Amino acid sequence: MTSPIYRFPWLLDLAMRAKYRSYYGARLDRVCALVPEGARVVDLCAGSGAIYRHGLGKRVEWYRGFEISESMVRRARARGLPIEQADARTVEIPDCDVVLCLDSLYQFGELATAILQRAANQCSRLILLEPVDNVVQSDLSSLAGLAAWITDYGEGPVHFRHTESSLREAIEPIGEWTLERIGADLLAHTSRAPSTAE
Ligand SMILES: C[S@@+](CC[C@H](N)C(=O)[O-])C[C@H]1O[C@@H](n2cnc3c(N)ncnc32)[C@H](O)[C@@H]1O
Repeated sequence: MTSPIYRFPWLLDLAMRAKYRSYYGARLDRVCALVPEGARVVDLCAGSGAIYRHGLGKRVEWYRGFEISESMVRRARARGLPIEQADARTVEIPDCDVVLCLDSLYQFGELATAILQRAANQCSRLILLEPVDNVVQSDLSSLAGLAAWITDYGEGPVHFRHTESSLREAIEPIGEWTLERIGADLLAHTSRAPSTAE
């Protein structure tokens, strides 16, 4: 059953702020800084469009968010956000400058590398934020179960999370990456120069 945080975008925002606390804004600032002014941006698993609302929307030529949750998309569109309902595992990714995948890669499990490869073929820069310190990895089974349940976007509890080493393994075949730790997240971006000025 879809978790409440994916039925109510304000609850997702609240959960993300509670999880990242003082790093919440710093993560998004850093991602925005890596997106060139006037870029064409695709956001896989856009959620409630946090990065768009963080100021990115004003700096880019266009932004297209793809999000699987119907209720999330309905509410985002009601607020004027350019987010469409689509499954990132199968959607045709348009030619663009940057593809973002923020705090979402774990949901793809073993498909992560193939999805990133498809994205990489369509853009000049890939930017990922991925949580690598997770409650799901806790030894306390009740905490791990709660974390898996709370991230059920409609296909059942999500038990998988990346560690730093599993993430490195998943992204390594795509090419060269620059990695930075920001709180519980690892920020990874490909090094290939974007087509627009940074
Ligand atoms: C933790 S939220 C992150 C949202 C957003 N990227 C952010 O940083 O605030 C993960 C989002 O991925 C969405 N999602 C899960 N699987 C998806 C898929 N296959 N295609 C598109 N969206 C998906 C969920 O519905 C949820 O909104």
